[in-house]
Amino acid sequence: MNNLTADELRSKYINFFVSKGHVQIQGKSLLPENDPTVLFTTAGMHPLVPYLLGEEHPAGKRLVNFQKCIRTGDIDCVGDASHLTFFEMLGNWSLGDYFKEEAIKMSFEFLTSPEWLNIPIDKLGVTVFEGEEGIPRDEESANVWKSLGIPENRIAFLPRKDNWWGPAGTTGPCGPDTEMFYYIEDSPCAPDCKPGCSCEKWLEIWNDVFMQYNKNAQGEYIPLARKCVDTGMGIERTVTVLNGKTSVYDTIIFEPVIFAIEKACDCKYGANGETDRSIRILADHTRSAVFILGDPKAVSPSNVGAGYVLRRLIRRAVRHGRKLKPEGISLISIAEVVVEQLKGAYPELEENRTFILNELKKEEVKFMETLQKGEHEFEKLLPNLLKDPRKIMSGRLAFKLYDTYGFPIELTEELASESGLTVNRLEFDEAFKKHQELSRSQSGLAFKGGLGDQGEMAVKYHTATHLLHQALRNTLGVHAAQKGSNITAERLRFDFTHDAPLTPDELKKIEEIVNKQIKNDLPIFVETMTIDEATKSGAIALFGEKYESQVKVYTIGNSVSDFFTKEVCGGPHVQRTGSLGTFKIQKEQSSSAGVRRIRAVLEFC
Ligand code: ALA
Repeated sequence: MNNLTADELRSKYINFFVSKGHVQIQGKSLLPENDPTVLFTTAGMHPLVPYLLGEEHPAGKRLVNFQKCIRTGDIDCVGDASHLTFFEMLGNWSLGDYFKEEAIKMSFEFLTSPEWLNIPIDKLGVTVFEGEEGIPRDEESANVWKSLGIPENRIAFLPRKDNWWGPAGTTGPCGPDTEMFYYIEDSPCAPDCKPGCSCEKWLEIWNDVFMQYNKNAQGEYIPLARKCVDTGMGIERTVTVLNGKTSVYDTIIFEPVIFAIEKACDCKYGANGETDRSIRILADHTRSAVFILGDPKAVSPSNVGAGYVLRRLIRRAVRHGRKLKPEGISLISIAEVVVEQLKGAYPELEENRTFILNELKKEEVKFMETLQKGEHEFEKLLPNLLKDPRKIMSGRLAFKLYDTYGFPIELTEELASESGLTVNRLEFDEAFKKHQELSRSQSGLAFKGGLGDQGEMAVKYHTATHLLHQALRNTLGVHAAQKGSNITAERLRFDFTHDAPLTPDELKKIEEIVNKQIKNDLPIFVETMTIDEATKSGAIALFGEKYESQVKVYTIGNSVSDFFTKEVCGGPHVQRTGSLGTFKIQKEQSSSAGVRRIRAVLEFC
């Protein structure tokens, strides 16, 4: 397995679980639709939340896939040997079918069988949930591991912070888990060295989560009627151990990308700590940026939400490019390698290649301008700064450069030190922290509610969104197609293609159409069929979205053939439109070129 590639691991995993009765489903967009609780898809389970909470999945009860994921919580740690913001996750699910014993047995077989990954048992260790008030210690999982030959001194019972997974956002399915670790060195620090040991020689590669609870918006854990299994195996980490490496960046996966960076910066990976750190940041951040821009629901760099994260990733990469080469290096040639390498598994990268490269270029140019502006501002401040006998630049001033011009603190420090000054970093960090707390609490507010928690209001807004979509098509024409949807418990927001502001008459007509369908108290039907059958029967499907072979179709109308609207959709929805109150459009505005945005509420009195 020494040279096992990501492509090989992907297909082995899928084949194994298909041989165990699972159906392969498509991975979904990196930018979750209808779930404002997170900015990015952070795990394979994320698009499956409604099904883990009880909806029937059209493909059945045993599913398997691979999913592109982004996690930015540890973005500042990227640069060390193990952290990544973009990664791929393999996953298998049981939706009310098998549970602990069968899940663990399948994981064990895939890891150790000579036919599959052939990992020696003595390289493996596992963790299980140690239990807490009201939730028992997971002896059941530990016993299954023991029965398979994992010795007791390789099974660690750990608390919630280690062995509990979910929800992915603020609310949703969650439960205790059992995690599988690979022992990356052959020198145990003690005979009973096991995962969780402070020597940190264990690398987690797979996680089987036993989804038993739904955490609601009040923070309560409500037992699920149907217990599920959600597993996630990290492709990059697993390839690392199978390649016999200790760092993800030393694997076959990163080889071509790092080679492209070496070429662009005329430097060498593996020789110098600081150079290596910058190379890793460039490699990881370019991969993330390529995937965000290559997504069917791509966003462009901006100052809010996912667009802001994208901007940060690109700018940090550019900045580290300047560390490697003073005149800077472009991300384009690195991005081309990422597209080439992953377009087989993710054809959307090839389809969106031009957009990816153009957006990268534009942002690089913009950032260069920012840097020049920041440098100019710094020059203006300099004479006064030099008057300070202590030669200290206040953190407040450094923060102002950051906040107003986007000028990175590291560059302020660099310029300051060139003039014999130091920056009061403590003061800067304090101002920065305050700013972060503020934006976190603001985004926390923005991300509350939504379909992630399947709250009653979010479900109502979801059904209202279908009515609005159809009303737009009836009023403006079928070109008015969905470009984005965002639902909270307080309102819906819907983006659609149309190239002119809507007139007051059009808005009135749309409201009337929706309210008429609410008044008609129409029932909502759900059917399962192939995507071809769905579109033939008149269902709207999202352009550019990938669908499973079997999809769910929601119809709002007198019957499935006499209807107001029919859409391919994962649900859930209300049972009848009569429960939706009165639909009111609050705002209509431009969202981006050729895309309009409507914000609407449901009123109940
Ligand atoms: N959802 C679980 C994880 O991401 C499997 O680790």
